[in-house]
Amino acid sequence: MTRTVIRGGTVITAADELLADVLIDGEQVVALAAPGSSLAESFSADTVLDATGKYVIPGGVDAHTHMEMPFGGTYASDTFETGTRAAAWGGTTTIIDFPIQTVGRSLREGLDAWHAKADGHCAIDYGFHMILSDVTESSLKEMESLVDEGITSFKLFMAYPGVFYSDDGRILRAMQKAGDTGGLIMIHAENGIAIDVLVEQALARGQTDPRYHGDVRHALLEAEATHRAIQLARVAGAPLYVVHLSASEALAEIANARELGVNAFAETCPQYLFLSTDDLARPGFEGAKYVCSTPLRPAEHQAALWRGLRNDDLSVVSTDHCPFCFKGQKDLGLGDFSKIPNGMPGVETRMDLLHQAVVDGHIGRRRWIELACATPARMFGMYPKKGTIAPGSDADVVIYDPTARQTLSAETHHMAVDYSPYEGKVTTGKAETVLSRGRLIVSGGEYLGSAGHGRFVPRSTCQYLR
Ligand code: URP
Ligand code: ZN
Ligand code: ZN
Repeated sequence: MTRTVIRGGTVITAADELLADVLIDGEQVVALAAPGSSLAESFSADTVLDATGKYVIPGGVDAHTHMEMPFGGTYASDTFETGTRAAAWGGTTTIIDFPIQTVGRSLREGLDAWHAKADGHCAIDYGFHMILSDVTESSLKEMESLVDEGITSFKLFMAYPGVFYSDDGRILRAMQKAGDTGGLIMIHAENGIAIDVLVEQALARGQTDPRYHGDVRHALLEAEATHRAIQLARVAGAPLYVVHLSASEALAEIANARELGVNAFAETCPQYLFLSTDDLARPGFEGAKYVCSTPLRPAEHQAALWRGLRNDDLSVVSTDHCPFCFKGQKDLGLGDFSKIPNGMPGVETRMDLLHQAVVDGHIGRRRWIELACATPARMFGMYPKKGTIAPGSDADVVIYDPTARQTLSAETHHMAVDYSPYEGKVTTGKAETVLSRGRLIVSGGEYLGSAGHGRFVPRSTCQYLR
């Protein structure tokens, strides 16, 4: 078993910032020790990593990715192998991905298929949320066994009629079951039935460009669905987690519910904080690179999102990483925006964009770690194994250079996608060294990890509800 010491860095967790050496034995952190103390000095290590002038932070936890997702007539371009390797480059050491239940099939079949895709291929650890596309007596029953196996959260869609959509009755039944079993329901909150009417009308008017994707997926239809999901959760007596929230009106619904004491949680994603409908409206077909759902919003929404991140109405930043290449995939929607595969890449850039938010003064350093590491780990039952640096935690640790400058680009990123939504953006801060369960997987500008090092993490239930 390798013993490693990380010396001289500033350890930042959601709770603390302190100068400390991090002592690692095998796969776990065993102690934090004052530099120069007898504990630090007496620890014999095989590997000594110098973190002087650097931050030492927990590996990022990205609670929302879609590797190899079948969607929009194609597949998300990152496999578990390429996507988790890119995550590692960006300082993320755990992802939670989404197995899909196919209509008419069991949850088990979907879950087995995702285990087969991931097992033996991942660079970092991973968990699963289950997508419910067909709420029946038997799939409700299966939710119980999945919770016992460590799949403790379930995503349902108010959007995408005919694909993943569930009506209110089905959502209510799933919420009731979640309330009974301790599971957490995650909702894609957009009124998909109304959106489909607006899509049809827009196309009939000849409005086929990517920009219309943003118009038809109206902010009020996100707010309405968010409101409905909250009321359904209250009726069911179940907690709720709203994914990829982008509209200030939807955030107001979450804030109201939380004010009333409802267990309503929400995440947003970097694309909603750093990009806008101006990107969707880029000339030609360029806007297709920015098609995702919920859609990018006018830049005026961003101030509300930043406020929500500070006051905890938004408690997690995930990526919703679902990349499709511009050439050969996004162009399925040339001449019809509704056929552009929905999704954007992001698993590699989340930690850096959130650090840029620290540099820009939107959030503090500990809040950065809380939003990107600790809260997602707690929300989805993995803390303190993941999301912090403490005795007994997995040694998922990043030495982060807060002064390194980089230019985000498809030329240099490691995601298997032919564009970067942030092409040319200069950010400050970079993961320099990354350990996953005590093993060096990124160091000195080199990838040292391997497919299959990453393991499935069975999760306990949401730790904000106990
Ligand atoms: O556009 C998106 N978000 N694609 C991935 C699927 C989803 O709804 O999360
Ligand atoms: Zn979604
Ligand atoms: Zn998603």
